[in-house]
Order: sequence, then C-alpha cells, then structure tokens
Amino acid sequence: MSKKELKFNSKTIHGGQQPDKAYGAVMPPIYQTSTYAQSTPGGHLGYEYSRSANPTRTALENALASIENGEYGMAFASGLAAIDAVMKLLEPGDEVISTSDLYGGSYRLFKRVYEKFGITFRFVDMGHVNHIKEQINAKTKLVWIETPTNPMMNIIDIKAVSEITKNHGLLLAVDNTFATPYLQRPLDLGADIVMHSATKYLGGHSDVVVGALVVSDKELADRLYFIQNASGAVCGPMDSFLTLRGIKTLHVRMQRHCENGEAIAHFLNNHPKIEKVYWPGFEDHPNHKVAKDQMSGFGGMISFVPKGGSYEDAIKIVEKLKIFTLAESLGGVESLAGHPASMTHASIPKAEREKSGVVDALIRLSVGIEDVEDLMDDLEQALA
Ligand SMILES: Cc1ncc(COP(=O)(O)O)c(C=O)c1O
Repeated sequence: MSKKELKFNSKTIHGGQQPDKAYGAVMPPIYQTSTYAQSTPGGHLGYEYSRSANPTRTALENALASIENGEYGMAFASGLAAIDAVMKLLEPGDEVISTSDLYGGSYRLFKRVYEKFGITFRFVDMGHVNHIKEQINAKTKLVWIETPTNPMMNIIDIKAVSEITKNHGLLLAVDNTFATPYLQRPLDLGADIVMHSATKYLGGHSDVVVGALVVSDKELADRLYFIQNASGAVCGPMDSFLTLRGIKTLHVRMQRHCENGEAIAHFLNNHPKIEKVYWPGFEDHPNHKVAKDQMSGFGGMISFVPKGGSYEDAIKIVEKLKIFTLAESLGGVESLAGHPASMTHASIPKAEREKSGVVDALIRLSVGIEDVEDLMDDLEQALA
C-alpha cells in the first residue's frame, strides 16, 4: 500500500516519511547544518544550502503535505511568515477579501504592512458567503479565510467559498490552525492554499514557533518555493524535528481536545455566571450545520462572556485560574486562557473588534488534554 493511500491517523505517523538514508534512523536526524559539501560545483547529494532546503525540514514538509492531502508542503519560521509568503504572490493594486473576524496578527500584517505596498483588503462577515460576491471586482486576486475564526468561533463554508473563487478565477487560502487536518481538510473542499500556525496544534507542545503552507498545484508551489527561498523566513532544523514529532500524535491529542472541549463548552453553557459561550458544536451556533458537514469534530477552542461582564471582571477571572495558564497562543497539551481584547487582538482597533463580537469581557480558552474534571473545578473556582 502506498503511503498516499493511508488513512489519516497512519498518515500523521508515516505520511511522506522514510528512514534516513545515512543510517536508517527512524526519526529524521536534526541536520543542524547551514551548508553541504560539494565534490564539484553543483555536485551534491540534493542539498546545497539550508535556506533553500534542509533534510529535517524536507521530512516535515512532506509530512505537512501528506496530512493535508496536498502535494507540496513548505515550513516557515512562523505562521505569520507563512501568511507573508502568500501575500508576496500579489502585486500592487491587487485586492484581497478577508474574513472580518480573524487572528489579530494576520489583520496587522494585512493593514500595517501590505496596505502600504498598494494592496487593498476588504474585510467581510463570511458567515454568509454572498457577502464575498458583493466585494469581488476586477482587481480581486485572493480570498483569505479562517474557520473556525479566532476568537469568535465563526464557521465559514469552505466548499461554498471555493465555488465562488473558482468561478471568478481567484485563489482561496484557508488558515486551518484551529481545526487542523484531523478535523477539516480545506484542499479536499476546494481551497488552493492551506496555512497553519504550526506553533499551535501541529507542534502541540508549546515549544516551537513554526508556520506551514500546503498546496496541490505545481505552478503555485513553485511560486511559493521561490518566495520561501528568496525571502528566507524558513523553519530551522530543530523546530522542524519538534513539529514533526508533534504531528505524529496529532490525532490522539485532537481526539482528547475535542472530548474535553465538548465537556467544557456544556459546563460553561449551563453555568449561572455565564452570558454566552461560542463553540461550533452547539446546535444553535449560526453555522452549526456547516461545521458538522465540513469538520469531523468541533475542536478544543471555546470563547465565552461572563454575565454582566466588564473588562475588569474578565481580567479577574483569568487571573484566578490555576490550571488554565493565562498566556498567548493555543493548541498545546496544556490548557490556556486568553483575553483577546488585551492580548491576541489588541492590534485591532476597539470599534473594529467589537463589530465582530470581540468585546472587552470575552475570554478565550484553549482546552488542553488534562483530566476534564480538574479543568471544570478550576473554572468553577475562578468564576466564584
Ligand atoms: C489562527 C492563527 N493564524 C495565524 C497565527 C500566527 O501564527 P504564528 O504566531 O505562528 O506566527 C496565529 C497565532 O496565534 C493564529 O492563531
């Protein structure tokens, strides 16, 4: 059986992998080298310089392509470096349509870095895909989506958006950081580019900052490889190794994240001190049906607003948490809590972020894989 035909859980372990050529090492060694000996100019064993390619990074890139059902993977120094590479496909004058509810750092990169190079970003609520159609014009080149969105857990119908982008000859890029390919595979749903902050669930242990892109089209891959090498924000060998190791347990971790996430979502929803819980697994979530169709579970990310909550109330709650660590980031084995208005989304102007629901009292949880009773007890004491 070819490794391409493996089921998902087997792909996380074997996809795109082979024993190392030198000594048969089952895990690729950390090729901590910048350069490679040549017998004559151009006479080398496939590697010349580690910005262009490195064997440990190649092993990770092959794993990334495999788990996302793509052909070509690219590993970057961070999630934002991966998004940056996609933006460099564009020319001054081009337009991008992006979801209005997205990671604050992506918004900052679009507005504060790329707008000044003459690229226009139109932010729309993509809960209804028709909003995208209204913004398309002759200059539109790319649609950028995140689903579930950070931090409002909105769901965007990837297949429906891809029908629009295909009809108009646009590229569709999906930030798949929250769902991971365990829950959702955007290329199978018609996307052209999948992006990850592999810092999160793919790495899974809060010990790396890494980004990823996966595509299926050779010409698009060549353009992105060119940018990756020309701009140079590549993932180093040690981080490639750690991310690859993380991917090998992605499926078992995600299974537990989903179980714990579901239990915590219901716990909060039934709690007298909670006003609103955002989690796509609830039947009354506005796009629950789309989530059910395009995802195989609902993940471990949850946002909530305490009753009558103010900025200060939210801060008090996150300060009182003991097992949930107050920290930026998400997707690690340990549970984290964040206050988007002052942390991950502080780079979005208040009026702008409140339009998409990121109010001052909103708290975001990345539910880890600890015993769920301990997590509930922790939330109970923090809400008391
Ligand atoms: C959804 C999403 N996309 C992109 C990023 C950026 O990734 P990185 O921090 O690895 O640069 C993040 C980081 O939090 C994120 O949550």
